[in-house]
Amino acid sequence: MTERIPVHVSEAEMRAQRESEARIAAMAERPRTYHVVTYGCQMNAHDSEKLAGMLEAMGMTAAPVREEADFVIFNTCCVRDNAERRALGNVTWLKEIRKLRPELMIAVCGCMIQEPGMAERILKQYPFVDLAFGTAALHRFPSLLERVLTERTRVVSVDGEDVIAEDVPVRRLRKDAAYLTIMYGCDNYCTYCIVPYVRGRERSRRMSDILREAEGLRDAGVKEIMLLGQNVNSYRGEDGEDFPALLRAVDRISIERIRFMTSHPKDLSDGLIAAMAECEHVLPQFHLPVQSGSDEILRRMNRHYDRARYLDRVRRLREAVPGIGLTTDIIVAFPGETEAQFEDTLSLVDEVGYDSAFTFIYSPRTGTAAAKMPGQIPAEVATERIQRLIRLQEKRQREEMARFVGMTEQVLVESLSRRSDRQVSGKGGHGISITFPGGAEDVGRIVKVRVTGLKNNTLTGERE
Ligand code: 5AD
Ligand code: SF4
Repeated sequence: MTERIPVHVSEAEMRAQRESEARIAAMAERPRTYHVVTYGCQMNAHDSEKLAGMLEAMGMTAAPVREEADFVIFNTCCVRDNAERRALGNVTWLKEIRKLRPELMIAVCGCMIQEPGMAERILKQYPFVDLAFGTAALHRFPSLLERVLTERTRVVSVDGEDVIAEDVPVRRLRKDAAYLTIMYGCDNYCTYCIVPYVRGRERSRRMSDILREAEGLRDAGVKEIMLLGQNVNSYRGEDGEDFPALLRAVDRISIERIRFMTSHPKDLSDGLIAAMAECEHVLPQFHLPVQSGSDEILRRMNRHYDRARYLDRVRRLREAVPGIGLTTDIIVAFPGETEAQFEDTLSLVDEVGYDSAFTFIYSPRTGTAAAKMPGQIPAEVATERIQRLIRLQEKRQREEMARFVGMTEQVLVESLSRRSDRQVSGKGGHGISITFPGGAEDVGRIVKVRVTGLKNNTLTGERE
């Protein structure tokens, strides 16, 4: 793969966006509200925080529900077909609200818009959408919206280089925990995956910019940061620093808790495992997507590792960080997957014992290599396989989680429990949810909790 020099958006361009925001704010005759609807992964959730940041710079405030907002923006995902269909279904539903409130503005953005032909399709089939723009245009949202407002036209933008935009305003959803992007895009071309086509080539932020942002978050009282990238192991800083070096540098900033995702097993190095073990603030948890337990399927997925190598990485992680929380992603019914190959996935899941697994039925994505492969699996077979997989994983998860009973965990409280307002829940250092007695005042705090039991696949505990 040819080396690409990351292109940072110029300061002049970023200033122009801030000026657009100010002009939009000045245009409003009354206070305006916005609502961002988010689909997909953490990367998208963080992009939505940037959209909200820019909207607030335009003088708008958040509306709790979309029905009440003056401006609704859908930040879409296209990694699987159902995410795409859900987004389009919801956009259509807003059409009715627009009939009652003709001044309602609607925008659609994100990964889906970046798919070939999608922007044109949206313009044609969804005449009530005012603005559509892809991930490559995220930082240009203010100037695109200004055009919609001043020229009273519909605007579509899918073009754009693979750039890095620093200093986009952010309105974070949580005060205690924050996402921090370290790199954008992906160059791996797993044969099922559309991400490299819609998120562009891999490019890393400068280490100095990342550290500056991390220090700012620490000073603002953030307790936990999640470093984000499609494949953090390919991180390369401006002076060639690798991901373990970045992790060590972020560790020295002394934010209480550091997590990261996602790590590709093919280049999970011993250097990273050593850094995990040594860094004081890096939590003992690891998300290591395996996708399949069959060597042949892994080869056809273009994953560049086999089952033995994957299991070796797991063993080393567990040796270096005893009790580490392990999670994964798995795809069933990849084209041509035989019953025996699916059973290889079952046996791997049994052998590893994950604390949690995200399981997906393979979804063909136009333009990817796997979509053209022979042997697409019928839906009934796929459903039956995923059910068997989920049953096994739930059993293994219960067995694995039992190791925490009697242990003490530091829990960052996220919210009141869904079942009772006298219980709170949050994640322990191993990444596993724990529910225990508490109240609203605990949200955002780190509380020492002794794990006492296991109920419905979540841990329960008592304050120490
Ligand atoms: N079909 C099903 N699952 C997919 N994923 C990515 N692309 C597809 C697809 N076409 C899953 C992978 C990845 C996770 C984020 O989404 O498991 O790790
Ligand atoms: Fe998709 Fe593979 Fe890149 Fe992950 S590593 S985003 S699965 S192509």
